[in-house]
Amino acid sequence: MNWLIACSTDGKRTLETTHSHPVAALHGLFADAIVNVLGDEYSGTDPVIRASRNPEFGDFQVNAAMGLGKKTGTPPRDLAQQLVDALDVSAIAEPPDIAGPGFINIRLKTNALIATLEAMSGDGLGISMEHDLHPVVIDLCGVNVAKQMHVGHLRSTIIGDALGRILERRGRTVLRENHLGDWGLPIAMVLRRLLDDGVDLDSLDLTDLDAAYRAAQASARSDDRGMAIVEERRIGPHRVAEMNVVDEDARASRAAAGETLVQLQQGDPDLVAAWEKLIECTMRAVYESLDLLNVSMDASNNRGESFYRKHLPEVVDAFESGGMASEDAGALVVRFDGRDRPMLIRKSDGGFLYATTDLAAVRNRVVHENADRLIYVVDARQRDHFRDVFDAARLAGWGTTPDGHDVDMVHIPFGSVLGADKKPLKTRSGENVTLASLLGEAIDRGRAEVHRRSEDERSPTRDLDKKTLDAIGRAVGIGAVKYADLSNDLVRDYVFDMDRMIAFEGDTGPYLQYAHARMCSILRKVDLNREEWVEAPFLLDEPAERALALRLMQWGDAVEGASIHLEPHRICAFLHELSEDFNGFYQQCPVRQAPEKSIQSARVRLCDLTRRVLADGLDLLGIDAPDTM
Ligand code: ARG
Repeated sequence: MNWLIACSTDGKRTLETTHSHPVAALHGLFADAIVNVLGDEYSGTDPVIRASRNPEFGDFQVNAAMGLGKKTGTPPRDLAQQLVDALDVSAIAEPPDIAGPGFINIRLKTNALIATLEAMSGDGLGISMEHDLHPVVIDLCGVNVAKQMHVGHLRSTIIGDALGRILERRGRTVLRENHLGDWGLPIAMVLRRLLDDGVDLDSLDLTDLDAAYRAAQASARSDDRGMAIVEERRIGPHRVAEMNVVDEDARASRAAAGETLVQLQQGDPDLVAAWEKLIECTMRAVYESLDLLNVSMDASNNRGESFYRKHLPEVVDAFESGGMASEDAGALVVRFDGRDRPMLIRKSDGGFLYATTDLAAVRNRVVHENADRLIYVVDARQRDHFRDVFDAARLAGWGTTPDGHDVDMVHIPFGSVLGADKKPLKTRSGENVTLASLLGEAIDRGRAEVHRRSEDERSPTRDLDKKTLDAIGRAVGIGAVKYADLSNDLVRDYVFDMDRMIAFEGDTGPYLQYAHARMCSILRKVDLNREEWVEAPFLLDEPAERALALRLMQWGDAVEGASIHLEPHRICAFLHELSEDFNGFYQQCPVRQAPEKSIQSARVRLCDLTRRVLADGLDLLGIDAPDTM
């Protein structure tokens, strides 16, 4: 049900029913009042409604009068008064106040707040749904065969999965696709080497495989300075393979690898079987890490580079025959106006590149999967690559789905994870930190913290067995890492500081998990049966109850904002504020010792609604919410 905005006989805008979101209603009323006062050319003007920072000034502030006053040459306070005179908010709010230079302060009537909480307390929790049947593709994880997952893949996986959960929460179908680096010369190199060394591929683990990969790279390495640049910028194995060789030995091992690649491409059964073993070995370790991260992906999510290998000639043809690509010293390139570097799509030796594969992936996602939103969660250093790929794909006509919808292609660039020295995270011996070791450390720290706390006499976890404590500790450790990864502006680098991340106080995952567990504990301990509170009328007479209610009713907006702007940190910030408001409520409004039963049941219900919203939010972030901590 919606607020119906009707015109009463005196021409004032009024509200007829009171069942949906009061902010939406205020928005409609003020937008109409602006047109009434200033004329039709102001239709569609945003009334600029914001939550008030200080409850003394009401619940919301309407700020449009300032900007409009300037524009129309009316003193803003006068304009504010005219707007207020042109509408009637009495169904949901007290008479508005005009303050300062021309703010309009709105205080909602308690019964309007109650009606809103009532409406959101159903299963949907006030979150609006998107009705778009096109799938959304999220390109995440992006590990490379024969290499350890590193911290960048961790970020890609955590962020990509959270975005997937947020979009799914609003009703979208999400295809999580792992653009595995499983094809090309680097893979052929390591494969050749392992076969030449007679290594038993069945008993291989990822650490050995990773070592063999490096050795194979080293033996094919010639241009050390060029390699150093590639490595320093961590541009990826693809670029490494694309470098020219000058050194003789290196040339020989590359030639051997090149032959292997050709045989592999031709489907040599022994080689294909061996290659599949490398993928299996890599993916076994990847799935273990994904499992620790609560990210459910399996082989069906793999859309590796090899998946597109047969599409590449066709993709290049599309550019060539459409006149969108040109020759450049034997190679084929796509040029863009105003850009220095063209995008290479076929090398002079006929080989294809990382970019060619990405074009094939866009085509597949749009033309075959009919997706109208492609989200690439990849390291910020690949920004130019994606800009070129998206522009080239649009040139080729893949910016529109087969049924005529514009395709939104976005790169979500994320920053690096830094060590305490503000340099990219390294181990003591100077190696890149692997994902497995990082998650291992997080879990150990989470467990140590949970065990330590359980020793306190008053701790609710005091009597839990080791296995249960370990499980909670794991949730805390992983929750800490995930929250730290999601709670900042994604593109910023951040310092990996386990002490700060795992703290139960502050802007951390464990703080939210703990708040959730506390709500569960309050609900467990209260001397009321569920039937006694589950439909009890909300009462919001105390300021702290009111503040909590006002926060809760913004949950839908927070999720909507996160899904539109693809910013999980909006969810983090909301949940943090919600937990703080809850703590304020719990300090000021006794639940078990409430003065009356009706007040008690109303508070229990408010507590339960808060718990559900918090659990919903943690779920969107992919963070476990234990019920005891
Ligand atoms: N494998 C690549 C790397 O490690 C990431 C893949 C990202 N996804 C893509 N569609 N290019 O750098």
